[in-house]
Amino acid sequence: MNRFAEPILDWYAEHARDLPWRRPEATPWGVLVSEIMLQQTPVVRVLPAWERWLERWPTPAALAAEPSGEAVRAWDRLGYPRRALRLHASACAIVERHDGEVPSSHAALLELPGIGAYTAAAVASFAFRQRHAVLDTNVRRVLARLVSAEEYPPRSQTVGEVTLAESLLPLDPPTAATWSVAVMELGALVCTARAPRCVDCPVLAGCAWQAAGRPAYAGPARRG
Ligand code: ADE
Repeated sequence: MNRFAEPILDWYAEHARDLPWRRPEATPWGVLVSEIMLQQTPVVRVLPAWERWLERWPTPAALAAEPSGEAVRAWDRLGYPRRALRLHASACAIVERHDGEVPSSHAALLELPGIGAYTAAAVASFAFRQRHAVLDTNVRRVLARLVSAEEYPPRSQTVGEVTLAESLLPLDPPTAATWSVAVMELGALVCTARAPRCVDCPVLAGCAWQAAGRPAYAGPARRG
């Protein structure tokens, strides 16, 4: 495993929040719903909405059986209601193409309407314990600091970031999945965007950004 894996996995085991979509009993559908909701909405607001959503629509078939307008109404105050339409369209495709079961393959997930590279990797990883690099904003920031000594990653994702994330993934698939969610949690709780709590960081001693004196983000590279 990479040299950060053990301290980060140990830190996660001790400090992770108990979020319902991370529990072993969460279904792949529950994981998919959580990932779409969490894309633009903070965890505290997602929690009650996710519980209500899964009580009402515990399966893709249950959601697909209702008009998309019901999904938009139930989306309520989560914001960006187009996500409700995407989720409804995905539920319909899951029923039509996959007999109502969320597919486990990254390629099949990617073909669902409104499911991009991030969500496909997150669902394959977190619901099916497969080995995929999961790069959300938090993970990108943690890796940019830890390895590249940059306060923030570039605005849009680069090939180099994907290569780096893949090179750090533990080989054992379930451990790779836990590594991804652990790095995400480290970014959410410790290695935060504006006021990182470096004293609480399990990998402070190996952090390239710390060693460089935590240089401020210089902004996107200028073209000259
Ligand atoms: N756990 C799994 N996926 C997550 C996400 N996108 N945000 C916060 N916690 C998560």
